[in-house]
Amino acid sequence: MIQSFIRSELRDYLIKIPNLDLDLLFDCWSKPLPEGFRVNTLKLPEEYILERLREKNTVFRKISWARYGYILETEFQLGTMIEHMLGLIYLQGPVSMAPVEALDPSPGDIILDMCAAPGSKSTQISQLLQGRGVLVANDPIIDRCKALSSNLQKFGVYNVVITTLDGRVFPKMVGEFFDKVLVDAPCSSLGIVSKDWRIVKNWSMDNVYRLSRLQLQLLRSAFDCLKPGGALVYSTCTLTIEENELVVHNLLESRDNAYIEEIKLDGLRYEEGLTEWNNLRLNEELLKSLRIYPYHNSAEGFYIVKIRKSG
Ligand SMILES: C[S@@+](CC[C@H](N)C(=O)[O-])C[C@H]1O[C@@H](n2cnc3c(N)ncnc32)[C@H](O)[C@@H]1O
Repeated sequence: MIQSFIRSELRDYLIKIPNLDLDLLFDCWSKPLPEGFRVNTLKLPEEYILERLREKNTVFRKISWARYGYILETEFQLGTMIEHMLGLIYLQGPVSMAPVEALDPSPGDIILDMCAAPGSKSTQISQLLQGRGVLVANDPIIDRCKALSSNLQKFGVYNVVITTLDGRVFPKMVGEFFDKVLVDAPCSSLGIVSKDWRIVKNWSMDNVYRLSRLQLQLLRSAFDCLKPGGALVYSTCTLTIEENELVVHNLLESRDNAYIEEIKLDGLRYEEGLTEWNNLRLNEELLKSLRIYPYHNSAEGFYIVKIRKSG
């Protein structure tokens, strides 16, 4: 069914990606994504919240790569539960929890979430900060910041500042200020097509090139506002090389104090990042980045890389 929505430009592009199984990809795109959630230990102990959910006959299993993360195994409208309304649980896709685990926030860190709305990853970072340190949650789209603000309040986060800036201005404003930065960049969303088939209907290479230019500017900005020795995670929920490996390759070409760090996340399945595209040799370090297809974990597709600034 979904096949009829896929434009030939997109199909021709996907066929060229090495080791991508198109049949499996289209099959995943046709099915709904699993429902994932995190329990909010800023409000109550994990086991207490889980017990409340069990009493309401929900069945779930632990996500191995994300602290406090679970996948729902029964049909249940989590979004209508009082626990959701009280901010005791936060609904978030299972693979979407991986970038923050890769960033590994520690209590006391000063962290920038550069593209933060509606706040899935900001609430996750806050939870791992345990109320110590500061999170700057930024997004330039005011309407999306309303959801960000409401989610952070509902989650009970108080060590957060919300800013509404273009992510590209941070180095000029603050210099090398942050211990850690997350860039969960705007992208062409090919990893979450199951949520909305219009993603493949409206996909175009022109849009990919436009996003790729913005993503490189955001990534450079994130790197430049890191303290020496600090680390950033760049993630997208898309599969194109122009929005993923090429962006990171270009950063590594322009910053000789940037290097990629290995990401170890228990049980998460992925392919290594690509080191060749359209006859262009890319930085070998990209093998340490994670290219996650929807069929790897029967969930969202993502690209994740962790970059450290030496010094
Ligand atoms: C993939 S979404 C982020 C999702 C969010 N991290 C979460 O987990 O809930 C990308 C975000 O980037 C924001 N964005 C777009 N242009 C931007 C820019 N120039 N600087 C910073 N953020 C930008 C969009 O408004 C959008 O909210």
